[in-house]
Amino acid sequence: MALLSVEHLSVSYRHRDTLVRAVDDVSFVIEAGEVLALVGESGSGKSSVALALARLLPPRAVISGRAALKETSLLDASEETLRAIRGGTIAYVFQDPATSLNPVMTIGAQLLEAIVWHTPAGHEEARRLAVWWLRQVGIPMPELRLRAYPHQLSGGMQQRVCLAMALAARPSLLVADEPTTALDVTIQVQILRLLRDLQRRLNLSVLLISHDLTVVERIAHRVGVMSGGRLAESGAVDQVLHRPAHAATQALLRARSAMSFKT
Ligand SMILES: Nc1ncnc2c1ncn2[C@@H]1O[C@H](COP(=O)(O)OP(=O)(O)OP(=O)(O)O)[C@@H](O)[C@H]1O
Ligand SMILES: [Mg+2]
Repeated sequence: MALLSVEHLSVSYRHRDTLVRAVDDVSFVIEAGEVLALVGESGSGKSSVALALARLLPPRAVISGRAALKETSLLDASEETLRAIRGGTIAYVFQDPATSLNPVMTIGAQLLEAIVWHTPAGHEEARRLAVWWLRQVGIPMPELRLRAYPHQLSGGMQQRVCLAMALAARPSLLVADEPTTALDVTIQVQILRLLRDLQRRLNLSVLLISHDLTVVERIAHRVGVMSGGRLAESGAVDQVLHRPAHAATQALLRARSAMSFKT
């Protein structure tokens, strides 16, 4: 049984009197310990798929289809189940760490909150775990950093904290939506290396959204290419990126060679 199975997922957004289809009949699975990347041009529906899983879409979104994480059905889950799923069984890391962190709470308070809310740890144990997780994501002097506010950290360090918060909840699935796009290029490489190391060390199951095919090649096992809300093709990374069957994949690969030519 797959860890995550998504069947015939569609998402539309209400615009005045009409419904605009953003995700159209998308199906895929993620096995335990596997990294599935979703790639595709801007607006192809990648984030809508990711956010639909924990029903984090705005009220104007209309979702249909089925999604299940292990035995838990996601799209028709009760509010109570959703509270346990959000940031717990499914943890998210987004593009911009500054907007994910609470600016008026210390790093330590936010980490402790995630741990206490989503794991059985009591306060003392949670504090120890908070320090441990900061160390896992490569934050120097973690005891001191617990007292820091987000603005006192660089963007790269903030994204490390977001990763620590996501993982400290011990999620079954980590969803990383363009986790490095907002960062400087050298920092991007560091964060991706960290994500890859943590994935291997902790055997994480990950839905990774990226427009960067090099990132996908380095981290993902399988890749799905989205185009106009549909899953144009999917398969092992080697197969899809080296023998693309669909025009949308070929276009992404051409865009990549044009980029690398310029830089
Ligand atoms: N909150 C929203 N309200 C209305 N329409 C939305 C909303 N979010 C996304 N859309 C629309 O749904 C479509 C898919 O958007 P989505 O953000 O899922 O794509 P994406 O592949 O993640 O794009 P990007 O690479 O730019 O992040 C787009 O046409 C977008 O305009
Ligand atoms: Mg997106």
